[in-house]
Amino acid sequence: MKPAVLVTRRLFDDVIARLRATFDVETNDADQVWTPDELRARLQGKSGVFVTGTERIDGALLDVCPMLRAVCSMAVGYNNIDLPACTARGVLVSNAPDVLTETTADLGFALMMAAARRVAEGERFLRRGEWTQWSVDLLCGSDVHGATLGILGMGRIGQAVARRGAHGFRMPVIYHNRSRLDPAIEAELGARYVSKEELLRTADHLVIVVPYSAASHHLVGAVELALMKPTATLTNIARGGIVDDAALAVALREGRIAAAGLDVFEGEPSVHPGLLEVPNVVLTPHVGSATLPTRRAMANLAVDNLVAVLGTPAQRPPTALNPEVLQRPPRGV
Ligand code: DGY
Repeated sequence: MKPAVLVTRRLFDDVIARLRATFDVETNDADQVWTPDELRARLQGKSGVFVTGTERIDGALLDVCPMLRAVCSMAVGYNNIDLPACTARGVLVSNAPDVLTETTADLGFALMMAAARRVAEGERFLRRGEWTQWSVDLLCGSDVHGATLGILGMGRIGQAVARRGAHGFRMPVIYHNRSRLDPAIEAELGARYVSKEELLRTADHLVIVVPYSAASHHLVGAVELALMKPTATLTNIARGGIVDDAALAVALREGRIAAAGLDVFEGEPSVHPGLLEVPNVVLTPHVGSATLPTRRAMANLAVDNLVAVLGTPAQRPPTALNPEVLQRPPRGV
């Protein structure tokens, strides 16, 4: 008998076909986000689950799903999965790093440029029929080329943003991260490590790419925004909750920073009403990795992990977050 696997959201047909070759698959073709109760009910008897960033997987859920052995996500961020709880119960967790790095960095750059050059504001102005004549200071923004690019969180995506800035736009790059990069990588990116305070004070364009955790909750709030230049922009392509959206809306409204570009929000898909009211912010609905080739690669990587853990013969999952659980006897068999 094939192991049973649950897929929590609608997926590409060819990816589902790949899963069906190895598993007995239950899908979510309606693509409605299931309630915790519904998810729990559907997970009964399942050995594996294919998740995205929208499902919460925690110890309480695992305790009532004793067959579950693998939680494989197509997202790189895994703040929706309680990794220690999974590890404690012998449940393998995987995410999908690398395959979305360049695509997400592209969107970060697009938002930064749109914020700096007031692209969304200009389009709304034009669509409202307010463009009646050229004027010398109409929608003047700030330069991107040659300006100082500040990166908070210098992992893979942060480095990809830095590379675009340094090599494409001749931007001096400064960064702050939990740990310093290898000097050879710093040299390749032309990036200089600075304190968080110096980063905030000096950056002309700040791009936030730190993973969400309790420690990064509201890492940028009113105090941090007050350190930034009034001409600076802020771009968040990481996770909602890292920036205090209420404080950001105030800073934008009062012109304490010039503009922002946001792909992620606290409590998304809800967006803080203060952000919807201010003109100097460009908003996208968490689409950092949203190109079809990248979304396919992310989904296929999650499948690779599921097949490796639950298929026969079992193999080493390519992007496991807690491979140590594989040393223990499998759960639920
Ligand atoms: C990720 O992979 O973490 C992206 O934010 C998409 O959810």
